[in-house]
Amino acid sequence: MAIRGIDPRQFEFIRKLLYQQTGIVLTERKRALVESRITQRLRVLGLADFASYLEYLRRDAGGEELVHLIDVISTNVTHFFREADHFRMIKGLTEQWLDQGTDRLRFWSAACSTGEEPYSLAMTLQPFLARAGTDIRILATDISTRVLAHARAGVFDAERLETVPESLRRRHFNRDSGSEGDRFAVTEDLKRLVMFHRLNFTRMPYPIRGSFDLIMCRNAMIYFDRTLREKMVEEFARLLKPGGFLMVGHAETLIGMEKSFRTVRPSVYQRTSTGENG
Ligand SMILES: C[S@@+](CC[C@H](N)C(=O)[O-])C[C@H]1O[C@@H](n2cnc3c(N)ncnc32)[C@H](O)[C@@H]1O
Repeated sequence: MAIRGIDPRQFEFIRKLLYQQTGIVLTERKRALVESRITQRLRVLGLADFASYLEYLRRDAGGEELVHLIDVISTNVTHFFREADHFRMIKGLTEQWLDQGTDRLRFWSAACSTGEEPYSLAMTLQPFLARAGTDIRILATDISTRVLAHARAGVFDAERLETVPESLRRRHFNRDSGSEGDRFAVTEDLKRLVMFHRLNFTRMPYPIRGSFDLIMCRNAMIYFDRTLREKMVEEFARLLKPGGFLMVGHAETLIGMEKSFRTVRPSVYQRTSTGENG
């Protein structure tokens, strides 16, 4: 049976709920997308219309349906070595840090989606573990339980690996015997570098013990309003070591909210020691 479209009041309800819970701003332009994504949930739950779904959400005291709603609405587009210059820069920085005698390095892939970003980071950092005494860890977080499950499993379709250089593909992936079709699993030694956790950017202070040498928060802040972006940047500053780096997506900027940072180059910021810009 065809499901009737979402009406303006119903869309407004979803828009507000999602904004309060995740900070994601849904504009009117997203309406058709929201409608088709929620229709998937209606089918799974066997509900006949949006009114019944909204009622179901209102009764969802444990918040389980809210997690599913976030899973279907959030945009999880990503790929291995996306914005590759960031990974080249991280390689150079890590070399410098280790040469200067730092042997413990902490990285955070904030909004890690299905894992391509933290695993790209792990492939970049893994060769440095050959230096005796080097201790490198990566924290990877996202709000969506669906993408986190995928990331933890670390199994990717062959075409997802197209942006991984051949030598890294051979070193860090094995054909996945448990899957049908052409799929590859991340090796255990790479997985060991990454810890996955659920984290919602709107819930502050973030329940994380710093201090990080480098935080990547790329292609997530674009979905939020300025108020949330500003608060996130303050949290990142709190959790970074003085001199630590924050990388945002190429299409993003911290202009006007970078008081604890100096701009290194577009999309790369360094935490100042005093919290003053300079
Ligand atoms: C487009 S992906 C970015 C993935 C990766 N950083 C990259 O640049 O390729 C955006 C991610 O932000 C996550 N996200 C959206 N709202 C969030 C929130 N309130 N807290 C934490 N993560 C959130 C989504 O689940 C999604 O996986």
